[in-house]
Amino acid sequence: QDLIDQQALQGKRVFIRADLNVPQDDAGNITEDTRIRASVPAIRAAVAAGAKVMVTSHLGRPTEGEFKPEDSLAPVAKRLAELLGQPVELKQNWVDGAGLEGLQAGQVVLLENVRVNKGEKKNADELAQKMAALCDVYVNDAFGTAHRAEASTHGIAKFAPVACAGPLLAAELDALGKALGAPARPLLAIVAGSKVSSKLSILKALSEKVDGLIVGGGIANTFMKAVGLNIGKSLVENDLVDEAKAIIDIMAARGAEVPIPVDVVCAKEFSPTAAATIKDVADVADDDMILDIGPKTAQLLAAKIAAAGTVVWNGPVGVFEFDQFGEGTKTLALAIAGSKAYSIAGGGDTLAAIAKYDITDKIGYISTGGGAFLEFLEGKTLPAVEILTQRAAA
Ligand code: 3PG
Repeated sequence: QDLIDQQALQGKRVFIRADLNVPQDDAGNITEDTRIRASVPAIRAAVAAGAKVMVTSHLGRPTEGEFKPEDSLAPVAKRLAELLGQPVELKQNWVDGAGLEGLQAGQVVLLENVRVNKGEKKNADELAQKMAALCDVYVNDAFGTAHRAEASTHGIAKFAPVACAGPLLAAELDALGKALGAPARPLLAIVAGSKVSSKLSILKALSEKVDGLIVGGGIANTFMKAVGLNIGKSLVENDLVDEAKAIIDIMAARGAEVPIPVDVVCAKEFSPTAAATIKDVADVADDDMILDIGPKTAQLLAAKIAAAGTVVWNGPVGVFEFDQFGEGTKTLALAIAGSKAYSIAGGGDTLAAIAKYDITDKIGYISTGGGAFLEFLEGKTLPAVEILTQRAAA
């Protein structure tokens, strides 16, 4: 696809679709601003080139046509202004161009939560055409939303006079493409999280590709059950035990492996103050809940990470928010940081673990994508990227 730096932007109206969907606490404070920081280079480039800059994003999953105060990008506008070092005015009800007539070259405005508009989710042509009419150049820099075909990520790219990719989108595709296109072997994937069901397609896709598939969290429980281990009252998806077994078999037939934990950290309840007990997997009792991998398992996995050529990481292997169940994730995080392997990581919880164990600088590439990162790993076509590629080829 075409890139923003190939465009002449002086005096042009530039519409940048970023992914500024950041986590907030109950009081509306931004708790993690990676995505806002990652959107700055595109905006700065447009400002430096003398463009009149409009930026928009979705925030959360608001009800169409019903704007509520908690849907507002106001906290994002404030943070963006701090990062850019220039004012960023937030514009409401902007779809028909109200308040955008007098934009000056070098000025930046933020257009209120794009997902509140009727037709955004459905990728309605009517909305896409209105948004396209607001600009001379459309820039998609929202990798985190590239797996969604919505009016501001897909439809607008059909109708805008010029449509191109921003630096973040380009960098993500480049880094992830390189890591998975011709990866240095062994290629190791860590896929963890609470549910197999939410990651089944990625587990299946990776089972055909990777040399080792490390599972963790609730996902690991289902795999442990699949090999006949007692997992007590741990989180499990019984209807997916057969799928887990099939993945283990596919991997084994290829000479690849899904390492099953040899020890685990258990508790009798799920709570921040629960007492943690390390047990060999054979000793798990019926009233135990597995909340982390054990130290022997963590060391075995750390050795595999040390010997890997490429590591792809999505998901913490334990309940790392509670320190007594965070040692497994910490050990793997430090192993990734210390390994010569090229590492890529993505997903909100993974980013939080990377921040907690302070290894940001030691990861080869940290993706801003959650669902988009997973779909890319799966080898799926990202609709927002596809449309830009089609435009560039036309
Ligand atoms: C994300 O947080 O993964 C992206 O911003 C996409 O959000 P969505 O799942 O609400 O479309």
